Amino acid sequence: MSGSPIPAGTAGTMPGIAIYPGQPGSVHVTELPRPQPRPNEAVVRVRRVGVCGTDRELIEAKLGAPPPGSRELVLGHEVLGMVEATGREVRAVKAGDLVVATVRRPDGCPACRTGQPDMCIQRAYTERGILGAHGYMVEQFTEREPFLVPVPASLEGVGVLVEPLSVVEKAIRHADLIQARLRSWAPTTALVLGAGPIGLLGTLLLRLRGVEVVTVARRPAPNPAAAVVEACGARYHSVRETPLADVAATLPNIDLILEATGVSALVADGMTLLGNNGVLVLLSVTGGESVAPVPLDAINREFVFGNKVMVGSVNAGLEDFAAGVEHLAEFERRWPGLTSQVITHRLRGFDEAERIADATDDGIKTVVEFAVD
Ligand code: BGC
Repeated sequence: MSGSPIPAGTAGTMPGIAIYPGQPGSVHVTELPRPQPRPNEAVVRVRRVGVCGTDRELIEAKLGAPPPGSRELVLGHEVLGMVEATGREVRAVKAGDLVVATVRRPDGCPACRTGQPDMCIQRAYTERGILGAHGYMVEQFTEREPFLVPVPASLEGVGVLVEPLSVVEKAIRHADLIQARLRSWAPTTALVLGAGPIGLLGTLLLRLRGVEVVTVARRPAPNPAAAVVEACGARYHSVRETPLADVAATLPNIDLILEATGVSALVADGMTLLGNNGVLVLLSVTGGESVAPVPLDAINREFVFGNKVMVGSVNAGLEDFAAGVEHLAEFERRWPGLTSQVITHRLRGFDEAERIADATDDGIKTVVEFAVD
């Protein structure tokens, strides 16, 4: 097999949506060289790109770095696109395939060398659209085969959620691995802190396993996130109406907590509310410097007597992307059309670039649509 030909007219330049890392509010449309694929790369035409809390932190200049030699960083790490052409060495994807791309590229550390860049020890990795490598808010990008994951055509509408779902897949996979310390681990009660995309996808994934899930967020119901929570059989609570401790007091032993609010103060609540033998998974990337008093004696005592675990989880492995594709299809079968309700805002790529930072204030997930001819 020799790959599919690179279409004519791919030379020249193309637009991209970028920031100047370190400079708050610097979203702008830039011009980039159109990518030229190497033999082991595919050219992907971008369909849509999701915007997340990390993008907002990038725009607020709380994190991020441009690629070496550039002042700009092209945004976007949650991509769905279609393969347009492949280099002659590419085997796993072909022209016409829908694909998502992973985010992190390995450095040379032992974890990266064994195919686990999400567990990088050295932390000298790059992340497309975040740290040292351009992202996917462009017309086309090139990527090496191992970092592209095929998505069935039936998931065209929701496939852009595979990347955030992969983050939750890893979190729950790791909780399961940790709980291999128990002779029986069948979580029955989970608390999800936050009803943004990560909290909601976590809620869906846990409901698929039959776990009783309570998802808490600030906004009172009705709202789009509460609707998703309730439609999959979980319970939604607003902490503006009922304090978190009161919600937790109505629950049996909390086996699993996913913290996905983006507010580090909630970590202390999570540590306090976690049940015996439970796992608290921290998923929020918090760029601030906040400091708060916590009841350390009580937390320590309860962690010791209750054999509790707190674990951080970032990024995702290739297996988590593959599991995300499978589970998105299962979500569609179990709750047809529900997952697409997570996408509440759509922006026209390039034309509405300046709105990327503030578009989710009254919704859940914003996606940027890139015109496909
Ligand atoms: C992305 C991860 C990434 C993390 C930290 C998240 O928004 O989904 O892939 O590792 O940010 O940069």
